[in-house]
Amino acid sequence: MHKYTKIKNYNQPMHSLKTISLFILLFIINSCNKVNEAVETDALEKEVHTLLSKMTLEEKIGQLNLRGTSSRVKGSLPEELKQAVREGKIGAFLNVMNKEYVDELQKIAIEESPNKIPLIFSRDVIHGFKTIFPIPLGLAASWDVNIAENSSRIAAIEASTFGVRWTFAPMLDIARDSRWGRIAESPGEDPFLASLLAKAYVKGFQGDSLNDPTSMIACAKHFVGYGAAIGGRDYNTAIINKELLQNMYLPPFKAAFDEGAQTVMTAFNEVNGVPASGDKYMLEHVLREQFSFDGFVVSDWNSVTEMIPHGFAKDEKHAAQLAINAGLNMEMTSKSYENNVKKLIKEGKISEKKINRLVADILRVKIRMGLFKNPLRVDNDKIVYAENHLKLAQEAVIKSSVLLKNRSSILPLEKSKNIAVIGPLADKPREQLGTWTFDGDKEYTITPVSSFSKEKIKYSFTEGLTYSRDSLTIGFKKAINNAKKSDVIVFIGGEEAILSGEAHSRADTKLPGLQERLIKELTKIGKPIVLVIMAGRPISLQNIIDDVDAILMTWHPGTMGGPAIYDMLFGVQEPEGRLPVTWVKTSGQSPLFYNHKNTGRPATKEEFVHMRNIPIGAWQSSLGNTSHYLDVGYAPHYPFGYGLGYTTFEYSNLKLSSNTITKTENIRVKITIKNTGNRAGSDIVQLYVQDVVGSITRPVKELKSFQKVHLTPGETKEISFELAIENLKYYNNNLEFDVEKGDFNVFVGRNSGSVLKESFVYE
Ligand code: NOJ
Repeated sequence: MHKYTKIKNYNQPMHSLKTISLFILLFIINSCNKVNEAVETDALEKEVHTLLSKMTLEEKIGQLNLRGTSSRVKGSLPEELKQAVREGKIGAFLNVMNKEYVDELQKIAIEESPNKIPLIFSRDVIHGFKTIFPIPLGLAASWDVNIAENSSRIAAIEASTFGVRWTFAPMLDIARDSRWGRIAESPGEDPFLASLLAKAYVKGFQGDSLNDPTSMIACAKHFVGYGAAIGGRDYNTAIINKELLQNMYLPPFKAAFDEGAQTVMTAFNEVNGVPASGDKYMLEHVLREQFSFDGFVVSDWNSVTEMIPHGFAKDEKHAAQLAINAGLNMEMTSKSYENNVKKLIKEGKISEKKINRLVADILRVKIRMGLFKNPLRVDNDKIVYAENHLKLAQEAVIKSSVLLKNRSSILPLEKSKNIAVIGPLADKPREQLGTWTFDGDKEYTITPVSSFSKEKIKYSFTEGLTYSRDSLTIGFKKAINNAKKSDVIVFIGGEEAILSGEAHSRADTKLPGLQERLIKELTKIGKPIVLVIMAGRPISLQNIIDDVDAILMTWHPGTMGGPAIYDMLFGVQEPEGRLPVTWVKTSGQSPLFYNHKNTGRPATKEEFVHMRNIPIGAWQSSLGNTSHYLDVGYAPHYPFGYGLGYTTFEYSNLKLSSNTITKTENIRVKITIKNTGNRAGSDIVQLYVQDVVGSITRPVKELKSFQKVHLTPGETKEISFELAIENLKYYNNNLEFDVEKGDFNVFVGRNSGSVLKESFVYE
């Protein structure tokens, strides 16, 4: 059985000063590595160009084609598809999920096509292949790079046995708007956390060596700014200034490329008037020059020809011209390259030299993947759903679930209590897998109800609503009767899988269907209510938040949601997740994010005059008012970084080693943490920095480091972080990445809203 690799812990203090000897040793090793790398690069480039020189233009165009097939194709493989491969007209496939087809197509490519160039088979393997892990937003809530890396390693091990050697993941779109359906797939709203996760995912997917048969090349997507869609409406226009692009949206991509991600996908949307698939500045300047990326760029599904409705290309030929000149290597599904490249070269609108470059990038990756030497799929059927995969999937749910509320410590539940389990998602194996889970089998998925049935507890289940959008009250009576006989109600609801993900944005993010109404009915019985949410986004809870005693957010937890939820509810384990996004009260507050700028009239947490308190006929006045909403104020329900456990902590004694930072002298930041409860537990200690005055305004807080601590009851620990000048740099309006002299605040605490503060200066 494969073992997933154990990796170093990234959640460590920032750079410490190296000793001179270590530095010299590293320098020597580094120099030797550089010489070796240069030799390898020369050999690789020679191989690429030898191959390229033998290829006809038709064959080159073929390498630029990514063809989609449906996994539902029945019978034998379509003859035209085989013929196209035979003629070298296809470079890669998407969604060929029949193993025999994979083998047959690859054999045709390597035995019969003109230069015997192997195909790459690709798929959206996003948060697991067969063993499904929590959705990426959930994995982000773990703040745990080991979980991220190991889950993607497992996904690669399982998917590669089906021939998938290229995944369209990780999705690295910073997401600040809960209405956006694809927030479910995102690493959240913070570029620092997202960058750590980006590296971990790439490492896990690609493994230790790209030519290992279980390595899946990663695809950092969607380049770039897709998450900034106006109004949270999928595919919508984004407007992002250049400094925000550099400081907020690009860092996770840079991290992925630094870790060696081999491919990148252009976004569907436009940023500042230019659709991503035709954005030469981003694809040539930022990607190739700034990030030294030498892999290949793939379009999103038809995103090249979608530049026509965008109003950027006048027809298919023009779309191909724009994408090729922008530097987009491989076209997914649409055929503008196949139909137009020859004509465009003839007309002098694109050059064959450019085509050669685009093809070379693809060949380089194919060689690195070892496909020319080992093109065939390595079957290892038994690996799917392996015991250690399921174990990690269960651990991932514990690490990513966020306890939002726990009035009177109702959780963990006592096993002796009678529990009424109610709600549309308590026993829905398909729904708990979440978005992008084509390959997870519901037969292998364990729901909370099936877990409860295996334990020695007294529970009775009536769903009340048959699915999350159900608008019928037929089941209410039975559910209410069940609740009356119980000591405590566990309501397991949220959103079905289809309510988040691509093209599934929601304007109103409250619990869909009649769930709120059923919860209101249940409150009349007077029993405590524990709300367990499975959803692809933060759910707006303002109508029911006071009606429930505890709230446990499990995102869409995946295959092992059931046993993990059992363990958390009954205290076998405590939920360990912390929010990777701000949890709004109502979607009317979106986008809301912790690392915002101040205004000239900054809002303070809860101080505002509610509209109900404004006198009738009041004279128009803005004096004394701040940047807030008249009905919900400014503060979210739960800030970024928030999450409870089953014990309590006290933070004290924030100290800096110096009040001045210099280019050579870091500042050590220390804080004392005490477990003040009566149960062992863990917390994620978070460090934020604010650059108080900048040549352009700076965010009120930015996450710069975090550490997880585990403390026994009464135990006290001093945690220490190191702040270096590097951590204070940002891209200013001239796109210079530098630190500016002046005052800085440093905040350490349990979440972005609850921190202790100190200050220092860079002179
Ligand atoms: C469209 C999605 O935007 C992208 O993320 C995905 O990888 C492709 N379709 C392929 O399924």
